[in-house]
Amino acid sequence: MAKIKIDPDRKVGELDRRVFGGFIEHLGRCIYGGLFDEDSPLSDDRGFRKDVLEAARNLRMPILRWPGGNFVSGYHWTDGIGPREERPRRTELAWFSEESNRFGTHEYIDYCRTLGVEPYICVNMGTGTMDEAQGWVEYCNGTSDTYWANLRRANGREEPFGVKSWGLGNEMYGDWQIGTLTAEEYVKKAREFAKVMRRTDPSIELVGCGLSGVSGWDRVVVDGLAPFVDYHSVHIYTGSDDHWSNVLAPHAADRALRTVGGMIERARYEQGIEHPIHVAYDEWNVWFRERDETGGLEERYTLSDALAVATYLNVFARHCETVKIANLAQMVNVIAPIFTNKEDMFLQTIYHPLRLCAEHMQEVVLDAFVDCEKHDLVAEASTWPHRVANMGPFDVLDVSATRDAPGRDLTLVVVNRDPDNPIETTVQLTDAAFDGAATAYEVTGDGPEATNDFGKERVGVTGRSVSAAGSSLEHTFPACSVTVLRAAMSG
Ligand code: AHR
Ligand code: AHR
Repeated sequence: MAKIKIDPDRKVGELDRRVFGGFIEHLGRCIYGGLFDEDSPLSDDRGFRKDVLEAARNLRMPILRWPGGNFVSGYHWTDGIGPREERPRRTELAWFSEESNRFGTHEYIDYCRTLGVEPYICVNMGTGTMDEAQGWVEYCNGTSDTYWANLRRANGREEPFGVKSWGLGNEMYGDWQIGTLTAEEYVKKAREFAKVMRRTDPSIELVGCGLSGVSGWDRVVVDGLAPFVDYHSVHIYTGSDDHWSNVLAPHAADRALRTVGGMIERARYEQGIEHPIHVAYDEWNVWFRERDETGGLEERYTLSDALAVATYLNVFARHCETVKIANLAQMVNVIAPIFTNKEDMFLQTIYHPLRLCAEHMQEVVLDAFVDCEKHDLVAEASTWPHRVANMGPFDVLDVSATRDAPGRDLTLVVVNRDPDNPIETTVQLTDAAFDGAATAYEVTGDGPEATNDFGKERVGVTGRSVSAAGSSLEHTFPACSVTVLRAAMSG
C-alpha cells in the first residue's frame, strides 16, 4: 500500500499560472495551416482556425511565446507589418522553407487577444540588430510621437500593444542557430540589447537566454546578465522509446531547476542584486521521434508521453519558487497537443493532462510526502540528451499537491508510471479532513504505446467519484495513468 500525506499548512510557495504557457513558431504547420489558415472554411474572417482556437482555449494558457524558436534568429519583424499583399516572401533559413510574412506582429497580437493570453516576444539576436529590437519594443509599446509608434498607428492601431515579456534571443549557444555565439559574446551583446530595449520601455521584463540549466553556458549567462534580466530561460526536451526512460526523463527538469536556482541565488548574493530573477522554462515537451529538421516535427504522442508531460507539470509545481513561466513547445501540429488536417483536428494524448492540470491545479503548492515503490533507471542509452539515471531511484508515483488560498479545495496530480501495475494508495491529511466525495479525473488507456488519431480518441479523460471520510481516502491509481484528484477539505 502506497501512502501520500498532505499537510495543508506545509506550503512550498505560490504557483504562477504562467507555467501553463504555450509557444507558437513559424515552423512547419504550426502557424500556417495550423492555427492560421486564410483559405479554410474552418477559419474566421481573420484566418484563425476556430476549432483550434476552441481547443487552445481549454488549455487556459496565460502566455504565448512567439515567433520562435530557431526561426526568430533570421526574422526581420518589419517584414510582417503593413498591407499583407505588400509583405515580402523570404527564404527561411532555420527550417529550410519560405516565409510569406502574412502572419506578423498585428496578427499575433490579435491572436493573443482572441485567446486571452499575454504576448511574449523573443527578439532576433542572430541576423537582427539592436536597432531592430529597439524598434520592435517601440512599435509595440510606444506612446510618444516617434517613428515606430507612429508606424503602428498608421497600420491601424492607435493604442499600444503593451507587450511586457521580451526574450533576448533564442538558443544562441547552438550551432544550429543563425548567429551562434559563445557565452561571453552573448552576454556582451545581450547587455546592449537589454539596455536599448529597457530604455525604450522601462516597464518590460527581459528573459536572458539559458541552456539546460546545468551547463557552463548557464553559469556565464546568469552571472553576466543578472543585473539586466528578470528571467533566465531553460530549454530541455526529453523522450525515449523505452517507457521508463521516457517517463522518468522529465526529472532532468528537477535537476535543472535546482541547479539554475542555485546559480541565480549565488549571482544575486555576490552582486548584491535586489530584483528577483526567476526561470522562464520557455521550451519543454517530449520530443525525440521527429528530430529531422525538414520533417515538420509532427510528433505523434503516446500515453507514455502524456505521463511524461504530467510529470513535467508536477516538477514545475514543486519548483514554483524558481520557475514562474513555462511554455509548452508547441501548440499546433509541431510537437503539439492539437493536431489538424484540412478538414478536422484531434487532441493528442498529451492534451489531456495539460488541460486537466491547467484547469485543476491551484494557487498554493504543498509539500506532499510520498511513500511508494521505487524504480531505478539503469539503461537509458536512448534518453537523449539529458541523463537522469544517477538521480534515482525514483518514486513510481509522481505527485504534486496544490490548494486554494482559503484551504478548502485540494488538487493532487498523481502519475503512476508503472506500465503494468495499479497502485493502491492511502491519501492522508494532517490537521484537516475531507469534506464529502472527491472526484478523480483519469487519463489512461491501453498501454504506454496508445495514441490518438482523427476520429479515434483512445486516450481521453474519465471522471469518477471517490469516497472520502474523515482525514483519509483510499484510491487505486491505474497502471500507466495520470490522475487529477480534486477534493473539498474542512479545516
Ligand atoms: O521547438 C522546436 C525548436 O526547438 C525551436 O525552434 C528551438 O528553439 C529548439 O531547438
Ligand atoms: O534541438 C537541439 C536541442 O534540443 C536544444 O538545445 C534543446 O532545446 C533541445 O533539447
